[in-house]
Amino acid sequence: MNNTVKTDILYPESEFLLVVEAKQQGMPAAAWAEENRAFLKAAILRHRGVILRGFDCDRNGFSATAKALEPEAIDYRGGIGPRTLVAPEVYNSTELPPKHSLAQHHEMAYNAYWPMQILFFCEEPPEEGGATTLCDARRLYESLPTSLRDKFLHHGLKYVRNYTKDTPYRSIQETFGTTDPQWITEFCKKNGVQAEWHGENRLTLTQRAPAVRAHPETGTPAFFNTLVLWHYTYWSKLLGSFTGTMSSAAQGEVWQNAFYGDGTPIEDSVVADILALYEEQEVSIEWKKNDVLYFDNMLASHGRLPFAGRRKILASFRSPRYAAQSA
Ligand SMILES: [Fe+2]
Repeated sequence: MNNTVKTDILYPESEFLLVVEAKQQGMPAAAWAEENRAFLKAAILRHRGVILRGFDCDRNGFSATAKALEPEAIDYRGGIGPRTLVAPEVYNSTELPPKHSLAQHHEMAYNAYWPMQILFFCEEPPEEGGATTLCDARRLYESLPTSLRDKFLHHGLKYVRNYTKDTPYRSIQETFGTTDPQWITEFCKKNGVQAEWHGENRLTLTQRAPAVRAHPETGTPAFFNTLVLWHYTYWSKLLGSFTGTMSSAAQGEVWQNAFYGDGTPIEDSVVADILALYEEQEVSIEWKKNDVLYFDNMLASHGRLPFAGRRKILASFRSPRYAAQSA
């Protein structure tokens, strides 16, 4: 690293998030990132994430920055969030309506493969609200009650998706890029997902995943999952369709849901307690135009606060890690 930048830690008490700010105007983010790749890779392990601020960047520059730091992008097919490709290997971030906050989660943690690193780019800062939020995954894991931690460690999780014509956010076509049942069934089989068709346009996907994973380089245990986001209480409250605790059978029929790995429902109160822990521990990133956030998907979870007005944050998901690589 040279003296063309100044560095600062955003949350010094927990050494969380390093800000690297360009001292001069017009320094291209991609070239600087490429030259300082080793420094930045070490920094995200230590600080969980880095914000590149004040560099010259646009969406194609962001695409190049992501590629310079982490050459391999992940195939997002089969993911759950609504996504549109806007530049090479660059997507719109979540298209969840602005008035909602997005709970902490680890990208694609429900899958047998997930991105090790994520990059976000602020093309247009939010007019009001709209901070991206991050949580330290180890701190969250350690703050869970021991009995609950043991239960999650023992059972893992079961994630279920039911696609119908009325799927609230993503159709079968949008999830897989096709509606060809044979292709989808093959794709799912390869990726450890059980696909059951109940006639055309009705598909149930079931997959199991641990609730806790250790980081392959640091060994850090992380509560690595998307259970709050997937649980029916969370999203049905967002959609205004929550009608109270559902029976176990009814819970298996809804659009998407997370269960303990043995198929038993996760208590509504447990999900509420975990959401409260996330909200208590999350830190905010107030976006400035052209900020690039580069962070480790297993050391930090991420979410978003509600916003009003315009906001354009782009995302690139990098360096696939396969469950089979982990012991
Ligand atoms: Fe996400």
